[in-house]
Amino acid sequence: MRNSRFIFGSFIFILLVGCTSVDSRKQFVEENIIYACEQTHCMLTSLGETQGRYPRSTKKDGSLSTTDIYGWTSGFFPGTLWMLYELTNDSCWKEKAVEWTLPLEPNKYNTKDHDVGFMMYNSFGRGFALTKDKSYRDILVQTANSLMTRFNPNVHSIKSWEGGKAPHDTIVWQFPVIIDNMMNLELLFWASKATGDPSFRNIAISHAEKTMKYQIRKDGSSYHLACYDPETGNFIKGETSQGYSNESTWSRGQGWGIYGFTLCYRETKDPRFLKTAQRMADYYINHPNLPSDKIPWWDFDTHRPGFIPGKFSKTNKYIQNYRDASAASVTASALLELSSYVKDDKKKIYTETALQILTSLSSPEYRAEEGKNGNFILKHSTGAIPHGSEVDVPLIYADYYFLEALLRYNRMINNKPIL
Ligand code: GLY
Repeated sequence: MRNSRFIFGSFIFILLVGCTSVDSRKQFVEENIIYACEQTHCMLTSLGETQGRYPRSTKKDGSLSTTDIYGWTSGFFPGTLWMLYELTNDSCWKEKAVEWTLPLEPNKYNTKDHDVGFMMYNSFGRGFALTKDKSYRDILVQTANSLMTRFNPNVHSIKSWEGGKAPHDTIVWQFPVIIDNMMNLELLFWASKATGDPSFRNIAISHAEKTMKYQIRKDGSSYHLACYDPETGNFIKGETSQGYSNESTWSRGQGWGIYGFTLCYRETKDPRFLKTAQRMADYYINHPNLPSDKIPWWDFDTHRPGFIPGKFSKTNKYIQNYRDASAASVTASALLELSSYVKDDKKKIYTETALQILTSLSSPEYRAEEGKNGNFILKHSTGAIPHGSEVDVPLIYADYYFLEALLRYNRMINNKPIL
């Protein structure tokens, strides 16, 4: 640990010298960034030469669990390294970011997964924004072309998964679309701007419109998954895979939706997307079951009468309710952007809620001690309770969006554009 301070001492020095103000908001951000640098350096040290495997979570015995480059979470660690480079301007982080980004390149031809946006935009996309490296641009454009192959003009949507069925239903999905897919649209909007070809953007808009119509309920809550008929494009049913029930609201899905519709408004200025993002945000913020620290339970409906925690777990082992820090960190980052598009009370509520989330996540309840928690930043995230997978663990994407929210908040308090 001491070594890491020595090796990466330059950025700590830069940060402290830069912090001439006693403004507590700046101190809050700086303390978290210094911590994130330390913890991420511990992670890099623990990973050693294990190139090809990317940190994802921890196993039941506390050891690291990883993914290969094709796992949907592979882009988050490189993205974290790019953000640390942006936050510190220390070239050590850039070197590491490049090293962990380049091996993801084969995903540019990946047409089997809608999550190439997560994998490639968060890695190469962040890298391109900071370096303007043309090779990154070309890789991203090819990735966007691969994602476009999953678009079905009958459904007006990009297909998420190849098939499957809900854990507690019999219907086999022919054309499933999950709310998470809203996040992958950012790559398509970017590709239109990079190439001048409007088709990427048109498909993103078409997908967002269909999701808005069928997956977002009147009260601003969301279905995790929509089943469509691939021939007629008809909506068949709203379901879930990772939530408590088909009619419940899976917390991270709600976060993906708030973030996704906010970015669609950023790119289109279509007021329908802004309204949808706000309805979804208001559902999260005003929900009677949202704990006072603003970190949601893994599903907003786990307090309904009749809820049996662990009911859908294969092992039936989970006998208590769980929070999801990842849902909170995604939402905090989204709310900060959303706050920049609204005024007065709404602006205040969205900013304050984001800050409340960040304050909770930075507390010892959620933020790990240095060198602990498998060297991930945040504790208490939940992957997929119905599948008995990744329950009350660190998750790399919780860390990524926590850092992104800090980055956005840092820009905001320094009067810079949030994006
Ligand atoms: N996109 C997968 C998840 O949020 O678990």
